[in-house]
Amino acid sequence: MAAFKQLVFSGVQPTGNLHLGNYLGAIVNFVKLQSTHDCIYCVVDMHAITVWQDPAELTKATREVTAAFIASGVDPKAHIVFNQSQVAEHAELAWVFNCVARLGWLNRMTQFKEKAGKDRENASVGLYAYPNLMAADILVYRATHVPVGEDQKQHLELSRDIAQKFNNDYKDTIAARGFGDAFFPQPEPLIQGPATRVMSLRDGTKKMSKSEPSDQSRINLTDDPDTIALKIKRAKTDPDPLPDNEKALEPRPEADNLVGIYAALADTSKADVLQKFAGAQFSIFKPALADLLVEKLSPITAEMRRLKDDTAYIDGVLADGSRRAQVIAAETMKSVKDIVGFVRR
Ligand code: TYM
Repeated sequence: MAAFKQLVFSGVQPTGNLHLGNYLGAIVNFVKLQSTHDCIYCVVDMHAITVWQDPAELTKATREVTAAFIASGVDPKAHIVFNQSQVAEHAELAWVFNCVARLGWLNRMTQFKEKAGKDRENASVGLYAYPNLMAADILVYRATHVPVGEDQKQHLELSRDIAQKFNNDYKDTIAARGFGDAFFPQPEPLIQGPATRVMSLRDGTKKMSKSEPSDQSRINLTDDPDTIALKIKRAKTDPDPLPDNEKALEPRPEADNLVGIYAALADTSKADVLQKFAGAQFSIFKPALADLLVEKLSPITAEMRRLKDDTAYIDGVLADGSRRAQVIAAETMKSVKDIVGFVRR
């Protein structure tokens, strides 16, 4: 397999409020990876419109996600932050991938089944083809590492299958153009930390999500300290005290979730948290968790609020990031066109 320069790419949809799952499952890792890798972080507005978005809300949410990245510690100067629709090459490569991916592969995607629900006939074609665009997002930069939460694992596997099939289908022109045996890398998912799947505060068997109707089920990055404390206080738990080992958390999804959240915020492991709180009742643990949440999130919330109103700055970051991203993406697309056999200028 050809060697590829290590590059990190990830994306977040600008749909509704960002929540603790997005933060701990993805954004915290975006921030960490900056010290070891070149990183590209994208606000995926084209993915967002696979389900209806009010145009004014979409614009607002795009700026809010950008503000959240920066407020959390993503550096848009040292790395690249941009919104997907400003780099047309994503859509261009996605079309090629629509012709590489097989219907059978997309039919297996659980996220489509969940999102389309029972009324599948009425789902957009974009929602169905979504994973092909996601593969294009990553591979248009020939990115090698993709930090995501657990729920994106299946999509990442599909991206790998697409890369592999492209490399195989076009192996002769890939070799003839001097790219050896592979034009695209196999992007590796980075699903890291103790909170790769943050669960609903109301039901420990369901994922924390933007689309869940009850706001009590999630902590939003825009929540104020009182709201956070109240939501944690009301979070579903069981009557037992915290155990002294992780195994004992397995049959207790709500307890497991809260311990995972604490561990991720404190940048430690669940085992360490249990060592500290073994035998404690939730009446002790919950206020400690709420305090930690407020301590970690309120500086981010405050900075987000400040940045969000500075649309000139945010739009400037996105424009600058798009220009820099496009240089890389255009280079890839030139080669893809040659490999596929498209005549170009
Ligand atoms: P999205 O916008 O739904 O979520 C953004 C990131 O947050 C993670 N996440 C969670 N992690 C832990 N617990 C949760 N409850 C939770 N909910 C969400 C997601 O795994 C994700 O990392 N398809 C992607 C966006 C995307 C993308 C890409 C990602 C488009 N192109 C290319 C990586 C690479 C999505 O809908 O994420």
